Parts: sequence; structure tokens; C-alpha cells
Amino acid sequence: MTESLTHTTTVSRLLAEIAEIGTDTARGGYSRPLYSSAELELREWFVAAARQRSLDVETDRNGIIWAWWNPSGLPLTDAVVTGSHLDSVPGGGAFDGPLGVASALVAIDALQAADLQPTRPLALAVFPEEEGSRYGLACLGSQLMTGAVTPERAAALVDADGTTFADLAERNGLDPRHLGRDDERLSQIGCFVELHVEQGRGLIDQGRAVAIGSSILGHGRWRLSFGGQGNHAGTTLMTDRRDPMLAAAATVLDVRRLGRGVEGARATVGKLDPVPGGSNVIASRVDVWLDVRHADDAVVAALVTDIAAAAREHAAAEGCSVTLTEASMSPRVDFHPGLRGRLSAILPDAPILPTGAGHDAGVLKEEIPTAMLFVRNPTGVSHSPEEYVEDPDADAGGEALATVLTDLITRPVDAD
Ligand code: GLV
Ligand code: MN
Ligand code: MN
Repeated sequence: MTESLTHTTTVSRLLAEIAEIGTDTARGGYSRPLYSSAELELREWFVAAARQRSLDVETDRNGIIWAWWNPSGLPLTDAVVTGSHLDSVPGGGAFDGPLGVASALVAIDALQAADLQPTRPLALAVFPEEEGSRYGLACLGSQLMTGAVTPERAAALVDADGTTFADLAERNGLDPRHLGRDDERLSQIGCFVELHVEQGRGLIDQGRAVAIGSSILGHGRWRLSFGGQGNHAGTTLMTDRRDPMLAAAATVLDVRRLGRGVEGARATVGKLDPVPGGSNVIASRVDVWLDVRHADDAVVAALVTDIAAAAREHAAAEGCSVTLTEASMSPRVDFHPGLRGRLSAILPDAPILPTGAGHDAGVLKEEIPTAMLFVRNPTGVSHSPEEYVEDPDADAGGEALATVLTDLITRPVDAD
């Protein structure tokens, strides 16, 4: 898999090493859910690549992989951390997550080849379940580490196959009793810089390869569960039905209508689960997954309230019930102004861009200074096989990250 290390290793060569892992022939692109064989293979690939670079690798009690570079033998405190995730959405692109991991490895190559005297340790981190594709809760690894999600809540999460997170974690070498906030680890970290493919058109519009992140929209996920009368598609008269699919469908249309009515909002239904899900069966239940985002958390809350009211009306009109459950809510994030300013001083030509996508850097921002670098995506499309990064832009991102890390690990801490 990992070729012998040369100075010519590039981000695109590293991504080529994992290009066959987790390809999804049915959906297109990649499906790499948490602790699937694909994600486990990617984790092994990362560990091998880190060991090849003589990094000290450990997996913590929340399943986050850490690879330390500490050539000066400094105490593990005030560390600079970079990294991202290796899990994907169903049928996702090649870059969302892996670009940040591969760029971190290439940046390490550059740092190791330079004659540096680091004054801070550096670590690469890989966070599990960033997308929340398996358990519906985004950034589960970083949310456990900070305590934003309690270990009890995480342990009880159930995936589509009925496997609890506690069982899955245990099968993958974690002790479910030891999940949760990790004060010791948090006290070792001075700052976190995550490089990520840009998921919109900001860099295309500006004609630039690399940007610095400014903020993340407040965003959350809710489940609207419509209950009706499961029945026979052929024998049930049209006048005799209590069909939750109808209430769900009407609500989906209202999600678009109400979302469009709020300036700057995004409101999406990307997943709908009918139970039992037979083509000749009137469903007894339909779960509708709602994703709502806005720069103002109060607007997110108000929009969800309006959508829930519409859902109740549609359910009542069909003689159905409906419940609303919050799966996650991540408040708006403004990245640390001091760290962001320092990145701007290091990369003076990089534009500053907000994003509507969630990231572990957004979760960790509650505990430590965090910042992000975005790399141009010429399609402007993400969470899709069409997500893309040109090789020269990937190289520019890797170089920008190496430049930032060099500065952060060699200039005094009080320059933050
Ligand atoms: C993750 O990429 C998200 O924004 O949902
Ligand atoms: Mn991501
Ligand atoms: Mn993503």
C-alpha cells in the first residue's frame, strides 16, 4: 500500500493509494461509514503512513488516532494539531476528510525535511464518525472528547442494523465505559488547524486555490417520525387510508417553501425511511431526516419550529401522528480570531471564507483555538462523487498547511 517514502510524495499520490478503498458501485463515489471494513482499512493506511514517518501513534479511548512528531523531546503540552477524518457520507467524494489527512502527512514530510527546531510538539489526528453517517450524530469523536455528547448518549446510539455504538466501539477495541470527555488530551493541545476541501463555490469565484475559514453556520439534524396505519396497497380504499407517506411528502415540500422564505437559510430532507418499505404496502411509519442551517442559531430554531408546525398539520390532515426528535445541534462557530489572524499573516494572499459545512474544528473550538484552511473544489459540489480537487491545488493546500505548521511550531506561543 504505502510506498517507500521519498521527498516527492504528494497529496494526490497519497490519495491515489486509497482510491480503491470503499468505492460504492451502487451509489457512485465512496461509502466509508465508521468502523466499516473500508474505514478500518483507511485507519490502517494512516497508521502505517504515520509510522513510516517515525511518528508515535496511539488511539485514544474515544477512537481518535493521534500521531505525534516531537523531535525535540518536549513535554506533550501546547501541541499544534492538524488532521481531519476518513469516514464519508454515503456515496461521497474522495476529498471530504481524506484531503486533510493526506495534506497533514505531506506537511509532516516537508517539516521533517527542513532543519527545524520545534518549540511545540505536533500531532496529526484522525477523528471518527465526523459525518455522522452511521449514528446520525456528526463529529461524534470530537464531541465525545470535549464532552459535548455524553458517553451514555453515545453508547446508546443505534445504527440502521440495530448495532449500538457501545457494541461497535467494543468490537473495535474501545472500552465503552471509558468513552467521554478527555481532559488529559485537551490539556495537551494548544491549537488545531484542519485543512478541508471547500464544499461550495467561494474559491472558484475568487480564483484562488486556498482560503482561511472564518465561520460555520449553526446547523442541526432532526427526525420527524410520522405514524399511520400500515395496510394493503390493493385492498385499502383511497378514502380509508392513514398514510404517513402523504404527511411526509407534504412536509418535504414545506421544508423547501419555509427554507426559501428565510434569507440565508438551508433546509434539506436528504433521507426518508418508510417502515416496512414495501412497494405494495402502505407504510405504518415514515421517518424524515431534516437538516437545517443558518448563521443565527435562533433562526435555525425558529425555522425548525415552523417546519414542525407544518408537519403536525399534514399529519392531522391524514389522521397520522408525528414526533420531532433532535439528533444534534451545533451552534454557529466563529473561528478563534487570534489564530485566524496569525494564519492570515502567514498566508497574506489567502481569502477569508465562511462555510455551511460542519467540522471537528468547529466542535473543538469550544475548548481550544481552532482554524481551517479550505482548498478549491472546481465543481463546487460536495457530499457527491463530483467533489474534486485539482492536483496543483492539492499541492498548494499541502504547502500552505506546511507553512502554517512551521510557523506555529517554531515561533513563540505568546505570538498567538
Ligand atoms: C458535514 O460535512 C456536514 O456539514 O454535515
Ligand atoms: Mn468533512
Ligand atoms: Mn462532509
